[in-house]
Amino acid sequence: MWTRRNVLKSLAAGGGMLATPATLRQAVGATEPDVEISLTATRGEAPVLSGRATQVLTYRGKVVKGDAGSVQSIPGSYPGPIIRVRKGQRVRIHFDNSLDEASNIHWHGLHVPDDMDGHPRYVVAPGKRYVYEFEIKDRAGTYFFHPHPHGRTGRQVYFGLAGLFLVTDEEEQAAKLPSGEYDLPLILQDRSFDAENRLVFLSDERARHGTRGGGMMGRGMMGGGMMGGGMMGGGMMDMMTRMMGFLGDRILVNGRPDATLSVATRPYRLRLLNASNARIFKLAWDDGSPLTVIGTDGGLLEAPVQRSYVTLAPGERLELWADFSRHAVGTELTMRSLPFAGDMAMSGGMMGGGMMGGGMMGMMMGNQSLPNGAAFPVFKVRVARSEKAPATPPKRLSTIVRYRPEDAVNFRKPRLFNITMGMMEWGINGRSFEMEAVADDEIVKLGALEIWEFTNDATMGMMGMMAHPMHIHGLQFQILERSVTRGLREGWQSVSAGYVDEGWKDEVFLMPGERAKVLVAFKDFPGLFPYHCHMLEHGDTGLMRNYRVRAH
Ligand code: C2O
Ligand code: CU
Repeated sequence: MWTRRNVLKSLAAGGGMLATPATLRQAVGATEPDVEISLTATRGEAPVLSGRATQVLTYRGKVVKGDAGSVQSIPGSYPGPIIRVRKGQRVRIHFDNSLDEASNIHWHGLHVPDDMDGHPRYVVAPGKRYVYEFEIKDRAGTYFFHPHPHGRTGRQVYFGLAGLFLVTDEEEQAAKLPSGEYDLPLILQDRSFDAENRLVFLSDERARHGTRGGGMMGRGMMGGGMMGGGMMGGGMMDMMTRMMGFLGDRILVNGRPDATLSVATRPYRLRLLNASNARIFKLAWDDGSPLTVIGTDGGLLEAPVQRSYVTLAPGERLELWADFSRHAVGTELTMRSLPFAGDMAMSGGMMGGGMMGGGMMGMMMGNQSLPNGAAFPVFKVRVARSEKAPATPPKRLSTIVRYRPEDAVNFRKPRLFNITMGMMEWGINGRSFEMEAVADDEIVKLGALEIWEFTNDATMGMMGMMAHPMHIHGLQFQILERSVTRGLREGWQSVSAGYVDEGWKDEVFLMPGERAKVLVAFKDFPGLFPYHCHMLEHGDTGLMRNYRVRAH
């Protein structure tokens, strides 16, 4: 049980503070923070399915100083907490690692110095503390946080570690969006459970968590059949999942299955975060009504836009204006994920077409009970009561100053990042992640605006092709243009109308065969930052590199 006394005890046992850069800054008397929070990563239990509680990893959060509303827990389950701050505030977060393995926290989407960003080189040993301290420089938006220990990020997030970091500012408040109980953060995840309600991950992880039965094929991972026939050992299966991405067969919203939101006949602000390891959502209302999108990764759009569906890859956020005033009390709506094609898991046609030799992978992925591209319900909305409120979103939400491509220092020669697959290893331009390695072509100048071009058309071969959401740490960028290889338009077309490229982004999602150019400015902070694929298993197995911002 978590009590104040136990926490104090564990802090004492941790042997005091590490000499992190933040603690050094404190020692020299930097400005006092406006908000001080303690976050402890620990083992816990959460009621997820009916019956026995599920063993999870979770963050316990608490306000040490400042507004009591700065930390809000998500009742009844493992994700969270929700941290709420305001632009311009100085925040100090004491992170205590009460896990039995190294961990740290990455503030996904936030513009912070490199030693505060949760780079895997700054992991925190079990029992130790790291003090994160930074000023909130970002505009209002739905950011989030999660661990980033290299090779273990997927596992730690899967078992429960991820929370929201909501920033507000004057511009957002002037837009007068639905707030309080009408502002609903929705964390979307997929998970698999065994018969005892334990989370199923890779087989060695199940063993770690004491799951019964040596069977390597987890329930829900494989249909049995051929795999069960012993054609492939569990080690092989694990290796594939570890590289290709883990997909669960239960959809959870804020840590609970079969989620139903009970709403009034009025507009809501829905903040969607895809905190899955590898699940791609193609979200739409089941009655066919369009979605009104008001925000992306880096906050509000300039004006609302409509989509018949939206595509949401791991790590991405989207905000919706959802108006239920047209519905009678008693109506039920379902937010569904629609089918799509083209990600390798669904690419029977492509694989079968002999374009790729990867029959084995296609077969294995095709065996999953809920592959990427399958259709499924995500959550329900029940219109429960009548209430009056203005029912149109503001015409103008915020101001976004557009970068001009011709201002980029490499306008004529965009920096190219090809997603590659070497000898069973992901990479970028043929190189995999090394903790501190930076190549010459990964060094940028402090203050420069650049065009970065990511390509996802070079990963042929045994592993086939997969979709990759590419994430750059430490800043928000703008998507300039996209294109797709002629032969791979079909899959691309099944999701691309759901992209929302109008706003600030910290991820750009690429379908197989797709390329995208983004405009990114390296302001304020020199140092070493990761950029990587946010399919967490891809990042953990090499699809990650560092870039260096050099101050000249
Ligand atoms: Cu949310 Cu390095 O990622
Ligand atoms: Cu990837």
